[in-house]
Amino acid sequence: MKAIVFHEQGGTDKLRYEEVPVPVIGPSEVLIRVKVCAVNHLDIRARRDRPEVQPFPHILGSDISGDVAEVGMDVHNLSVGDRVVLSPCIPCEQCLDCLNGDENLCDFQELLGFQTNGGYAEYVKAPAKNAIQISADLSYVDAAAIPIAYLTAWHMLVTRAQVRPGDDVLVLSAGSGVGSAGLQIAKLCGARVFATASTDEKLKRAREMGADFTINYTQTDFSEAVHDVTDGRGVDVVFEHVGAATWEQSVASLAKKGRLVSCGVTTGNIGEIDIRKMYQKQLTLMGSALGTTSELRAIIGLAEQGKLTPIIAQVLPLQAAAEAHRIIEARENFGKVCLQPE
Ligand SMILES: NC(=O)c1ccc[n+]([C@@H]2O[C@H](COP(=O)([O-])OP(=O)(O)OC[C@H]3O[C@@H](n4cnc5c(N)ncnc54)[C@H](OP(=O)(O)O)[C@@H]3O)[C@@H](O)[C@H]2O)c1
Ligand SMILES: [Zn+2]
Repeated sequence: MKAIVFHEQGGTDKLRYEEVPVPVIGPSEVLIRVKVCAVNHLDIRARRDRPEVQPFPHILGSDISGDVAEVGMDVHNLSVGDRVVLSPCIPCEQCLDCLNGDENLCDFQELLGFQTNGGYAEYVKAPAKNAIQISADLSYVDAAAIPIAYLTAWHMLVTRAQVRPGDDVLVLSAGSGVGSAGLQIAKLCGARVFATASTDEKLKRAREMGADFTINYTQTDFSEAVHDVTDGRGVDVVFEHVGAATWEQSVASLAKKGRLVSCGVTTGNIGEIDIRKMYQKQLTLMGSALGTTSELRAIIGLAEQGKLTPIIAQVLPLQAAAEAHRIIEARENFGKVCLQPE
C-alpha cells in the first residue's frame, strides 16, 4: 500500500510517499481502508521532535474514517464494508484509571498514529473496540475531522468545566481544530461565546459560526477586550490551548469564580499566576486531556443529527501531507486540514 512515512524526525521534507506492507491484524483487530485522515497539531510536533513517537519508520495520523476491510477472528460486532471512524486512544484496560472508566488518564495508553502507525496510509489497523460505526448521514471527511478536536473540546467544556446556558465562554484561537470545535460545543451548551484569532478573516469565520464577540489578539489585549464587553466582570470559562503566550491574559479574563480549562501548550509549557488574585477571585484552574470513547460516541451521534458540524479548512490528497503540515504551521487553516488517499 502507499503511505506517508518518515524515517527520522525533522522538517516536512522528511515526509515521504512510499510503498509499505499492508498491516497484518491480530484476532481482536480490524483493518480499515482509510477514506480520510485529518491532521492535528500533534502530528507536526511528532514529525519534528516528540520523543514518544514509535515505531520507526513511522506513519502519522490519529483521526481516521474509512471502511472495514478485514476483521480479526474474535471480532463479532463489525463486518467488512462497515463505515467507521476510529477512536484514537488505545488504553491498557487494566490499570486502575481504566477500570474506573477514566481511560484518558491511563498512563499506558497509546495514541493511534503517535505510538502506533496511523492513518496517513491506504490501510491502518486498530483494535476493533476503537471502531465506531457511522451512518450514511456523516461524510467520511466530517467523521475524520471529529475525534481529537471534538473529543478534547467536549471533555474540556462539558465534562470538566461543565458549561451551562448563560455562561460566558472565551475560546482562544477559534480557527484551530480544537478551537473551532470548542466554539461549536460552547454554543450548543447555550453559552455566550467570545472568540480570539490572529486575523480578521478568521474572526469573520468565527462570527459566521456563531461567536457573539470576536477579538483580534494581535491588535488588543484580549483580557481588556473581554472586561470591556462584560462591564468589568470577565468570563465564566476560558478555553485554553495556546499556553505560555496567552496564559496571563487568559487568567486575567476570568470573572470571579471563573474556571480556566487547558489542554495544550502550543507556545510553551510555563505560565505564571498571581496566587493571591487566584484565591481572592476563587478561580478554578483545570487540565483536560482527550476524552473517553463513550464521549466520542455521543459526539458522533450529535454530528449525525447535524447538531455539530466539523469545520473543514481543506481536503488534500495523501501525497500532499507535507503541504498539509505547512498550512498548519503557517496558521493558514480555519478548522481541520484532511488527507485523502486516492
Ligand atoms: N491534551 C489534549 O488532549 C489535546 C488534544 C488536541 C489538541 N491539543 C493541543 O491543543 C493545541 C491546538 O491543537 P490543534 O490541533 O487545534 O492546532 P491547530 O489547528 O494547528 O491550531 C493551533 C492554533 O494556535 C494558534 N496560535 C497562537 N499562537 C501561536 C503560535 N505562536 N504558534 C502557532 N500557533 C499559534 C493559531 O491560531 P491563531 O492564528 O488564530 O492564533 C493556530 O491556528 C495544540 O497545542 C495541541 O497539541 C491537546
Ligand atoms: Zn490503563
